[in-house]
Amino acid sequence: MEKIIDEKRQGETLVFKASQNNSRKLFIESYGCQMNFSDSEIVASILANEGFKTTQKLEEADLVLVNTCSIRDKAEQTIRKRLEKYNAVKRINPGMKVGVLGCMAERLKSKFLEEEKIVDLVVGPDAYKDLPNLIKEVDDGRDAVNVILSKDETYGDISPVRLGGNGVTAFVSITRGCDNMCTFCVVPFTRGRERSRDPHSILQEINDLNEKGYKEITLLGQNVDSYLWYGGGLKKNFKNASEIQKATATNFSQLLDMVALAQPKMRIRFSTSNPQDMTEEVLYIMAKHKNICDYIHLPVQSGSTRILKEMNRQHTREEYIAQINRIREILPDCSISQDIITGFPTETEEDHKDTLSLMDYVKYDYGYMFAYSERPGTLAARKIKDDVPEEIKKRRLAEIVSLQREHCAFRTESFVGKTLEVLIEKESKKSDQHWAGRTSQNTVAVFPKENYKIGDFVIVKISDCTSATLIGEGVWYSENN
Ligand code: 5AD
Ligand code: SF4
Repeated sequence: MEKIIDEKRQGETLVFKASQNNSRKLFIESYGCQMNFSDSEIVASILANEGFKTTQKLEEADLVLVNTCSIRDKAEQTIRKRLEKYNAVKRINPGMKVGVLGCMAERLKSKFLEEEKIVDLVVGPDAYKDLPNLIKEVDDGRDAVNVILSKDETYGDISPVRLGGNGVTAFVSITRGCDNMCTFCVVPFTRGRERSRDPHSILQEINDLNEKGYKEITLLGQNVDSYLWYGGGLKKNFKNASEIQKATATNFSQLLDMVALAQPKMRIRFSTSNPQDMTEEVLYIMAKHKNICDYIHLPVQSGSTRILKEMNRQHTREEYIAQINRIREILPDCSISQDIITGFPTETEEDHKDTLSLMDYVKYDYGYMFAYSERPGTLAARKIKDDVPEEIKKRRLAEIVSLQREHCAFRTESFVGKTLEVLIEKESKKSDQHWAGRTSQNTVAVFPKENYKIGDFVIVKISDCTSATLIGEGVWYSENN
């Protein structure tokens, strides 16, 4: 499925140093999921080779790129507003060129050029290697569009620039696209069919991150459990692969095992998991390696089997619960988070109660909850009327959010009194005397700085908490350092 959208990062700009002096200035900002932020690092790397340097000042940019999201209507409206802002700046700096990247570019294609006069360049998620050519077109005064989706593009050979982050945690993309065809979701149309990246290039990137001092990596994909490398090509074409390719293929549990063994001192996370594709082997590999974090993001979308069927999810309520039980059995300390959509067409009060009761059963540590937003071109938009009134969607969403808040507080409190390993990521937002990091379960923890520093693994005795943050004191370095 899909990636979580981190509200704090929306609109973040990337900065890297110039490789040449008289280079042109690029302003690049990103909206949407982690995959989009990761893609912007690939784009930045491609343009650094073209001699661009980045700026954080929109007003002085020669080229403005915005990496866009289409997941809900609101995401697209945010981008439209940004384009208005660029338009205002273009009046001061008429030479500035504007390019739209990512999912909205793919969805709207050349329509963008008609609808938004200020846009010069439209590039879909599989066409970033064509950017140097497309920019030349634009320089020559022509609009340029490339929204071709690819069978095998994974950008495995491009080493992303990493200068926007904290230097401790990084994302490594392992699959692109999605074959699930959930009826609400625009992703299969914007990011194309599913394909996996060569495990050697993944390992190389992780080893390189380790050498640069990174301590934690998150393997990224719309559906990581479906990872399958058999020499390249679409997942759906695996059935046509040769016997040798089939016999030597690498699946997600094998990849996870390789990564955990290659860097035993680095923390490994992954996202997103799908209930129907997550195998028992993955859970056993997680149990086997101390450095794989005890955290699974397992979107459910709805607790009603009828709605799940309408959504074309490949699992029932019962199957999802069975998967949760298996996780609890094999990984008793594992925390679990969800994505839920409320107000999907035809959702009744009964269906909504099923979602609430499923939440009560799982008591998720964390959740990302949304009101259904009809997306043009999706199966749901074509087949079922968006018939749940806005006020009902809002009220159901509020109930779900409030229940999740209770569960989150319950889970956070359960860690008080425990001694847990925390990886320091940055200074606490609330106090410059405290560090902030996360536990293996992905809960944020703050504690006094003492002599510890960013990137240290510290054993922290948890003495208190707020609704979602643990408060404690460092005991000593963990043996992981
Ligand atoms: N409306 C509302 N939420 C959606 N999501 C995906 N498509 C839609 C939509 N049309 C949610 C799902 C997904 C998360 C990333 O966004 O819960 O898992
Ligand atoms: Fe990410 Fe695109 Fe989905 Fe938005 S629509 S969450 S950018 S994959």
